[in-house]
Amino acid sequence: MPSKFITNIAYLYGIHSPQTVLRGKELSVLPCIENAYLHIEDDEIAGYGSMEDFPARKGAEITNANGGTVLPAWCDSHTHLVFAGTRENEFLDKIKGLTYAEIAAKGGGILHSAKAVQDMSEDELFRLSWERLQDIAKFGTGAVEIKSGYGLSTEAELKMLRVIKRLKEKSSLQIKSTFLGAHAFPEAFRDNHAGYIQKIKEEMLPMIAAEKLADYIDVFCEKGFFSVEETEEICKAGMALGLKPKLHVNQLNDIGAIPMAVKLNAISADHLETMEEESVTMLAKSNTIGTLLPGAAFFLNMQFPPARALINQNAAIALATDYNPGSCPCGNMLMMISLACIKMKMLPEEAVNAATINGAFAMETNSTTGSIIPGKKASIILTKKIPSLTYLPYAFGTHPIQRVMISGEWIN
Ligand code: NIG
Ligand code: FE
Repeated sequence: MPSKFITNIAYLYGIHSPQTVLRGKELSVLPCIENAYLHIEDDEIAGYGSMEDFPARKGAEITNANGGTVLPAWCDSHTHLVFAGTRENEFLDKIKGLTYAEIAAKGGGILHSAKAVQDMSEDELFRLSWERLQDIAKFGTGAVEIKSGYGLSTEAELKMLRVIKRLKEKSSLQIKSTFLGAHAFPEAFRDNHAGYIQKIKEEMLPMIAAEKLADYIDVFCEKGFFSVEETEEICKAGMALGLKPKLHVNQLNDIGAIPMAVKLNAISADHLETMEEESVTMLAKSNTIGTLLPGAAFFLNMQFPPARALINQNAAIALATDYNPGSCPCGNMLMMISLACIKMKMLPEEAVNAATINGAFAMETNSTTGSIIPGKKASIILTKKIPSLTYLPYAFGTHPIQRVMISGEWIN
């Protein structure tokens, strides 16, 4: 492959390589140089500098940014992008006033998505998921975590995880896989929680570990779903097989999941729409990253997670989409950045760091993604000519992206 250069970049953002996840005040520092060039060799960043020092290189492929801005590609550390069908009927129910919990109780929600996955072939599920992956890459996502959890039977959970494995093999995005068999209790186990948990521990997990199908374990810890004790039990079974916990907690209720997540040293505690004061403090003091999913709070018309309180108490926070058919049918990270700024009062720099380097830490792809430094994957976003970084969240819902490069290749 010829050397590649991007020239005349008005602002080159994210040129840092923190050794640990950014916390508190650190989140507002997004290093940048103006009037820059970027050098790419094969699939990696090779260097960068001021245009004044641009090295003329024979045979190199040069892309003129024409005053556009360059950012690291987004690191979306929480998605459910493998799903079989959309759920716009529930959207109508919601418009008419039903709550998320009421829809779930009606047999809608996660159980509805599980039926659709159970009835679909692996190839068709792969085809749909591949299309979604291409779509989010065009929105600028270069690394993504994808969960199972719409299978809820051994066969269908394995089908989802095999689809994720095929996505990993075929795609040049960095992909991490999470087992979320404990997303809901299937109908047949509604009154037999112990039976389903046993199935997860004794049937699903050993097969998943044998086929190396997952990097993490997740549980939907929530009233009406999995209790704190059940969550801990499932996580410990996963941890014994090398899967670290990344958990759905405090979405609808604060049932005491944060102390459990912190005790288990979970990589991340995700959602956090409902946080008592002491939960904020405990999470802020811990190593667990708080992953905020403002698209879900927006779509479900809920209160937003307390981003400012978390940042003020020195927490490490990441931003992700939660891309799924039930609570966030949108995989566009830039939309999440707008929501973070508009609804959670995050500064643009904080939101971009939370959506890039901290997202990378939240799925342990930080050695290859999340910032622009030599040796990392050349996965970057080139914007149109924009007046400032702040313009990106400000101009919500618009399309400021000019081109996206994933692992050294322009994809558009
Ligand atoms: O992260 N909260 C649990 N799981 C998903 C939504 C699942 C669904 O409604 O399909 C979420 O919001
Ligand atoms: Fe989720």
